Amino acid sequence: MKRREFVAAVSASAIASGANQAKAATGTPVRSEPLQAGYWGTEFYDDAEQQQITDVLNARSPFRWYGPKPPVKVATLEKQFAAHMQTKFALAVTSGTAALQCAVNALGIGPGDEVILPAWTWHSCYSAIVLAGGLPVFAEIDDSFNLDPTDIEHRITPQTKAIIAVHLQGNPCDMDQILAIARKHKLRVLEDAAQSVGASYKGRKLGSIGDIGIYSLQLNKTITAGEGGAVVTNDPVLFERAARFHDVGMFRSVHQQLTGEQQVQPFVGTNFRMNEFSGGVLLAQLRKLDTIIGNVRANARRVYEGIRDIPGIRLRQLPDPAGELGTGVYMKFATKEQRDRFMAAMKAENVPASPPTGSAILPVQPYIEKKVTAHPAWPSFTSERGRAIQYGATSCPKTIDILNRFAGVLMDPKFSQRDTDDVVRAIRKVYAG
Ligand SMILES: Cc1ncc(COP(=O)(O)O)c(C=O)c1O
Repeated sequence: MKRREFVAAVSASAIASGANQAKAATGTPVRSEPLQAGYWGTEFYDDAEQQQITDVLNARSPFRWYGPKPPVKVATLEKQFAAHMQTKFALAVTSGTAALQCAVNALGIGPGDEVILPAWTWHSCYSAIVLAGGLPVFAEIDDSFNLDPTDIEHRITPQTKAIIAVHLQGNPCDMDQILAIARKHKLRVLEDAAQSVGASYKGRKLGSIGDIGIYSLQLNKTITAGEGGAVVTNDPVLFERAARFHDVGMFRSVHQQLTGEQQVQPFVGTNFRMNEFSGGVLLAQLRKLDTIIGNVRANARRVYEGIRDIPGIRLRQLPDPAGELGTGVYMKFATKEQRDRFMAAMKAENVPASPPTGSAILPVQPYIEKKVTAHPAWPSFTSERGRAIQYGATSCPKTIDILNRFAGVLMDPKFSQRDTDDVVRAIRKVYAG
């Protein structure tokens, strides 16, 4: 038996035995096959993305700055992305991680500066601060899975320079409260909308509300070219600094035309430039963004409406229900054991539920807890504050507790009405049980 056939046979028998267990535990499962969310952007790939790639191949111009024919894809993407996100400037880069590094360096964060970020987010938020020589200071999350605004102020010191407001799993942070704290303490706000491309808060697109915003355009995100990222801002100096950082210190004419002048001395940078193939695919994807969001939001709403009246149900906190994407519909339980029983029962119904996903509890990651850097003399942890700061589980007990007690069903823009009805039926059945 070839390896692929063997794997298929083993998983078929595992599914069959799982289904039998399910039948024994709960009667006939709600679905005969497991429901599974996919990779949203790729589900909408069609001739439009194909044409964009063909254009670049035919022009033989895969590099964004020059080639045998004038390249247009990345520059056009930046214009249209800025328009969509309601900002003056957008910079396309190679990943969300690269975008974070551009934004952190644009803000001038460096050795001696502290940056507040949530304990539950992606590694890149932490690494962007450390790679700039700054010191990450974790704050707890709340039932929105985002930064808890009531846990920020007591972490501010004279060295604090910025807050990273990370809008996780499609859900906007409580930006009113975060901005009020930032204004009061004269801090900069970097919005990380990597997991919430296209979501909004009180009518404003995420990423456009703080001083500078970033997005990821990697496979798991709303729209994708496999990898990709973007930085947005309304501030020409921040834009110029981000652009210089992403392009070995240079500020090219395409970008100078947007700001009208150069205001920043060249400084050391790296190469995070997007290529024309990615730019073209993302241009096609950007034109589908509203459709993707409209579909997934509608699906999540059908589920919310179908379960809202279940006695005692506690849903994820949504600071702006109209603006969230509906990436998943999450419920809170009294204990981790109850939550785990709910997940097991949902699996038996072939409507799997999972804990919040797509991030890591950063303070408990061994390399973070031990403050490991590429070089032992790295400035983040050699200062008095850097030596004194303690990460680990004791630094974020509330975050750990919340993540232990929530579970939810991930949504997909291509789910049918039947699929969302099944989600509602499974949740109602399991809750009743
Ligand atoms: C919150 C957050 N920020 C930044 C990133 C980094 O994006 P990328 O994977 O495109 O580098 C991610 C990736 O998942 C993320 O979830």
